[in-house]
Amino acid sequence: MEKIKDLLSAIDDTELNIKPFLKKNISIKEENEVIVISVALGFLFTGLEDRYKKLIISALNHINKSISINFVLNISSHQTQGSTQSISNIKNIIAVASGKGGVGKSTIACNLAISLKKLGAKVGILDADIYGPSQPKMMGISGKPESLDGKKLQPLTAFDVETMSIGYLVDPDTPVVWRGPMVTNTLQQLLNETNWSDLDYLVIDLPPGTGDTQLTLAQKVPVTGAVIVTTPQDIALIDAQKGIGMFEKVNIPNLGIIENMAVFECPNCGHHEHIFGNNGGKKIAEKNNIELLGSIPLKSSIQKNMDLGTPSVINDPDSLESQEMLRIARKISVKIAQSKENFKDKFPKIVIE
Ligand SMILES: Nc1ncnc2c1ncn2[C@@H]1O[C@H](COP(=O)(O)OP(=O)(O)O)[C@@H](O)[C@H]1O
Ligand SMILES: [Mg+2]
Ligand SMILES: [Zn+2]
Repeated sequence: MEKIKDLLSAIDDTELNIKPFLKKNISIKEENEVIVISVALGFLFTGLEDRYKKLIISALNHINKSISINFVLNISSHQTQGSTQSISNIKNIIAVASGKGGVGKSTIACNLAISLKKLGAKVGILDADIYGPSQPKMMGISGKPESLDGKKLQPLTAFDVETMSIGYLVDPDTPVVWRGPMVTNTLQQLLNETNWSDLDYLVIDLPPGTGDTQLTLAQKVPVTGAVIVTTPQDIALIDAQKGIGMFEKVNIPNLGIIENMAVFECPNCGHHEHIFGNNGGKKIAEKNNIELLGSIPLKSSIQKNMDLGTPSVINDPDSLESQEMLRIARKISVKIAQSKENFKDKFPKIVIE
């Protein structure tokens, strides 16, 4: 049995560039001449089962017994920055940020949340853009959250993703002219006073820049990792660089960069054009030694789908961009699985007086 574990833990997934089967997560027993192998995986493996079974079978081809293999999803809570304490029913918070506005951060956050869900996770999205909430429209949700206990608000759900946004609570046509402290409180309230169910991932859609909301996030919200969205032109990259620097400074790990509007895809003939320049995302990723998670094209259907409240990953699931979103979501789950697990909350705090 130990030998089998050794063999399995040596297997490489050359596509994801990981060794997916960790020794401590493999259990093996023999039942009626059948070797029953169960592997717990900490990342979203939906769609990989057949390939993984083949890898295992070929690693064990010297065994003359039937082999039965099953995979179990087991997402853990991972370490968060500074002295933040993770929230008991939210395993991992993913912040989606950008330097500039209008680069498609909310679009990516929304499609990312749904993609994580499609791959088998329990997911929520928190719209932290207090001044310009986008998620109600993008997720096609109208209506007001209710409270069952008079304290916490029930999230509104679309596409099996739980959502909360200030957009549900204030009239969309009234400009929100709050100052710093109110922004601070609002973000924390939306996070802590929503009755989220047990979530594997909560995606936070941040406003652009490095302002009050980002400051609160850095100090008060237990974040597992950040994802930076940028377009490829130099002016966006300069701002993306600021975002990367900010997360570095506050010790929030950077999970990678997503390049949006990377290439224009013509709806008439399908030809591609690099309107905003070539390889900008790749350059900034290399410069900072972080991963380019993927690239999404500039395509009118993406914008139309967002305006309809039926994101591309729902409305055009077979499109290249939707497939790319799924790949990105999987990579993010792998990156999180590779980061340090959260032990801060498992041990009592020792206070020396
Ligand atoms: N890849 C894309 N192709 C076409 N339109 C896009 C794409 N990404 C975003 N958009 C559109 O661009 C606008 C700004 O996107 P949004 O996600 O609101 O940006 P941000 O949150 O960064 O301000 C929206 O109308 C959105 O539908
Ligand atoms: Mg936005
Ligand atoms: Zn054309």
